[in-house]
Amino acid sequence: MVDDNRQWRLTRRPVGEVRPGDLTLSVQPKPVPGSNQILVRNIYLSLDPTNRIWMSDMDQYMPPVALGDVMRGGTIGVVEVSNNPAFKPGDIVQPFLGGWQDYVVADHAQKVPVSPQLPILASMSALGMTGATAYFGLLDIGKPQAGETLVVSAAAGAVGSVAGQIGKLKGCRVVGLAGTDDKCAWVTRELGFDACINYRKENVLEALRRACPNGIDIYFENVGGEILDAVLTLINLNGRIALCGLISSYNATEPVPGPYMFRNILMKRVTVKGFIIIDYLSRMEEFFRDMSQWVQSGQIKWRVDLIQGLENAPVALQKLFTGGNTGKLVVQISPEP
Ligand SMILES: NC(=O)c1ccc[n+]([C@@H]2O[C@H](COP(=O)([O-])OP(=O)(O)OC[C@H]3O[C@@H](n4cnc5c(N)ncnc54)[C@H](OP(=O)(O)O)[C@@H]3O)[C@@H](O)[C@H]2O)c1
Repeated sequence: MVDDNRQWRLTRRPVGEVRPGDLTLSVQPKPVPGSNQILVRNIYLSLDPTNRIWMSDMDQYMPPVALGDVMRGGTIGVVEVSNNPAFKPGDIVQPFLGGWQDYVVADHAQKVPVSPQLPILASMSALGMTGATAYFGLLDIGKPQAGETLVVSAAAGAVGSVAGQIGKLKGCRVVGLAGTDDKCAWVTRELGFDACINYRKENVLEALRRACPNGIDIYFENVGGEILDAVLTLINLNGRIALCGLISSYNATEPVPGPYMFRNILMKRVTVKGFIIIDYLSRMEEFFRDMSQWVQSGQIKWRVDLIQGLENAPVALQKLFTGGNTGKLVVQISPEP
């Protein structure tokens, strides 16, 4: 492999969407691991809506990426050099936030299970952080019961596609919202959602009213804005909202108005709980146990939108905000061994 370490560094805080010049590609020598450390060659880089949050100097759940630092991001890679007896060259590992770069030196990393039924990319999607987000958000906060109606926004995305499928496994009527007819066809025909609304084409409130004749018991919220308001209008007594994300506001340059139907949280005694997947790190075994079974048995399907080349990461990130991705957006930095 190469002896250089290409790194995307944050050089300017974006205003609105990420633009050329906000991130700069620099080249450093390949790092050398110290005592008890490992050198990991990154293979896959996860692109996530939260990358945009991390670029902003605002109150958030982690410190923002400092100007000049390597852009933070989740990776899976292969151990090239190990000075740590727990790892050997060739191990497939997930270092903690390996970054937008070719190589990372780590003190520790999570070993990634690999088999013909569980390719590495499964651990970047359903069996990775976005799958875990869907799992804990839906089961812990949504508390789905058979026969209830679950609505999922960004339904054809990494988290939404898995959340909806778990809802089906739990016996819910599942209604998704997505931005194209092709995405809606995928989630209904391939993933088994009962209905899907193309929110760009339809009146969301009217379409939800038709698709949810018994109202909405659970909302898995990824988006915010108009969709949240429509859901609040139709939410049932004792409804639950797992507040996973608000992607419609991540590029906002002006303050974002709150939901107009906020009063229904009171009238319908709705539980709304925001969560961040790192809150659940101590329960990951539970997730791995269930999800690896579901993935291997084909009960949970996953799809990766794969972009080739670290150099293309900043442009690819935009797909999350334009709706260009279906399934989990991933950049391939280097080949699998
Ligand atoms: N709480 C946590 O720990 C946690 C962890 C991971 C992700 N998240 C959140 O979960 C959500 C989904 O993340 P993901 O990684 O699975 O991304 P994703 O759904 O794979 O991609 C984002 C999707 O959001 C939709 N979208 C973008 N802008 C929109 C808008 N203005 N209105 C409606 N839909 C819009 C687009 O699909 P369409 O074509 O359907 O518009 C896009 O494909 C995000 O809000 C993210 O921040 C939270």
